[in-house]
Amino acid sequence: MSGTRGKLLTIQQHIIERQKLHHPDASGEFSWLLSGITLATKVIADHVRRAGLHDVLGSADQINVQGEEVQKLDLIANETIMACLGYRGNVGIMVSEEDDKPTIIQELNGAAKYIVLFDPLDGSSNIDVNVSIGTIFSILHRVEGVDSSKVMDHILQPGYKQIAAGYVVYGSSTVMAYTTGDGVHMFTLDPSIGAYCLSHESVRMPETGKTYSVNEAYRSQFPQGIQEYLEWAKSEEAAYSLRYIGSLVADFHRTLLRGGVFLYPPTTKTPGGKLRLLYEANPMAMLAEQAGGAASDGKMRILDKVPTALHERTPLIIGSRSEVDRVLSYL
Ligand code: AHG
Ligand code: MN
Ligand code: MN
Repeated sequence: MSGTRGKLLTIQQHIIERQKLHHPDASGEFSWLLSGITLATKVIADHVRRAGLHDVLGSADQINVQGEEVQKLDLIANETIMACLGYRGNVGIMVSEEDDKPTIIQELNGAAKYIVLFDPLDGSSNIDVNVSIGTIFSILHRVEGVDSSKVMDHILQPGYKQIAAGYVVYGSSTVMAYTTGDGVHMFTLDPSIGAYCLSHESVRMPETGKTYSVNEAYRSQFPQGIQEYLEWAKSEEAAYSLRYIGSLVADFHRTLLRGGVFLYPPTTKTPGGKLRLLYEANPMAMLAEQAGGAASDGKMRILDKVPTALHERTPLIIGSRSEVDRVLSYL
């Protein structure tokens, strides 16, 4: 199709084409699984676009396992993903930020190969003020040879085992970024045809970037080295700028495209960091590395961390490789 849309390449076609190129043996069922995610995010995007009109704003008067007040859109997003992915036939387990336990869709053998971990709605504090929010997902393959009843053994795999990761940012446009291990590709939702169309293929994160992204309100609670790095970044010599949206997906999306570094360091209040390893840090770390960037917890590579709990938190320093290295040089 020509004209304003240019070459119309939907995410389904892209996944199948890349699979033929890079994973000829991979059955089409992986693209079938990803199409469940794209469907869910189109439904969520529709709710987000109408949030002001429909009764989806505000609190659901519930506190979740994270101890945070649940927003209505969190619940809608969670239920939507469960509904769209639960019946794809090849998903065995689903792990959501909103649910304290994993959801066993079906036993992890035979067709049920995949585990999907997700943050249904990231940046919930921004919903009611019309600031960009997002959905983050991570896909693991069951661990061959481990009994399907050992659910946590299949879930608590280190990030380098992810077979795919991605996010959707509901911003001025709805953009999905995903990787299956051969580069990061972005698709913009064309609402008039309801399809995600390729907008950036093989995204590369700029090697450097004079933007740092952190909630400076907690500066006095950060480790000494982080405070020293922030002093440097604010110096005349460095001449960096600060950008902080408060939605990881939006702050990361900007960092992926423009370069720079996003930090959520440990604080005295959250000594293990605030962001969750399994469905926030790991997927973003896979995307960052696939685009030539880096992701660390301040001591080690995020993707090497062996999780010990479902909702485990981690400090996160992620962005252009040289910017991440610069922060680490202060630690
Ligand atoms: P969620 O809405 O899924 O709980 O995630 C919010 C996270 C992340 O999106 C963002 O980077 C961070 O919380 C912001 O935390 P502060 O408000 O403490 O800066
Ligand atoms: Mn989140
Ligand atoms: Mn969330």
